[in-house]
Amino acid sequence: MAAVGRRQIITVADPAALARAAAERVQARMAANGGRIAICLTGGSSPKALYQLLATEPYRDRIPWDRVHWFIGDERFVPVDDPRNNMAMARGAFLDRHAPASHIHPIPTDAASPDEATERYARELKSFYGAEALDAARPLFDLVLMGIGPDGHTASLFPNYPAIEVIDRWVVGVPKANVEPFVPRVSLTLPTLSCCREMLFEVAGEEKRAILTRAFAGENLPANRVQSIGETVWLIDEAARPENFRG
Ligand code: 6PG
Repeated sequence: MAAVGRRQIITVADPAALARAAAERVQARMAANGGRIAICLTGGSSPKALYQLLATEPYRDRIPWDRVHWFIGDERFVPVDDPRNNMAMARGAFLDRHAPASHIHPIPTDAASPDEATERYARELKSFYGAEALDAARPLFDLVLMGIGPDGHTASLFPNYPAIEVIDRWVVGVPKANVEPFVPRVSLTLPTLSCCREMLFEVAGEEKRAILTRAFAGENLPANRVQSIGETVWLIDEAARPENFRG
């Protein structure tokens, strides 16, 4: 699973254009797969506009809801009725209205501990995939959505934390986050996230410019290390675009 595919950076005008461009890519990935489709969502604030857009026309009617399964790349270990819960945000924004309940695969934060949630989610992913080991010839996800935090983290893989080095497990517990909210996290590991046809980063706003400058300079940040075995695309807006970067 060490193979890494192509990386592309696309700049759009603003957050609204970013959500539209992301929605088009989500839809294109779905159109490319006539069978069962797996999408790995992300938390944070950046993807919310995309999620809301997917619940509106023309996207809503083009999504083959009965064939799409929805996972999440990382979760804050808080109850589902806590506003910080990542999957709850996605459910509220679009999933609960359109996706069959059995196609929504949250990280179980009703588990007794993050470690138990980690085990349960790994079992669920393996059972969905139908194998105990990931195979680059058969990507787990059609699309993995990602964001980048101010310290260069992605999912809940923080810089210099042991979780970013884990390659022998599908899911990992992170006892304490490096940024707010400072709650325990559960995260898919680097090889699990990478096992996709496309990884799509959404990055918007001036406050992201500093970390994007570091990321595009090639710094060893989790967000740079997690790349798809297929295609990796960074969608950024003008406000986030580093000075001197054209793309
Ligand atoms: C989380 C996320 C996290 C997020 C980045 C960017 O649980 O916080 O999954 O990895 O994607 O921190 O977050 P924003 O979109 O809020 O900037």
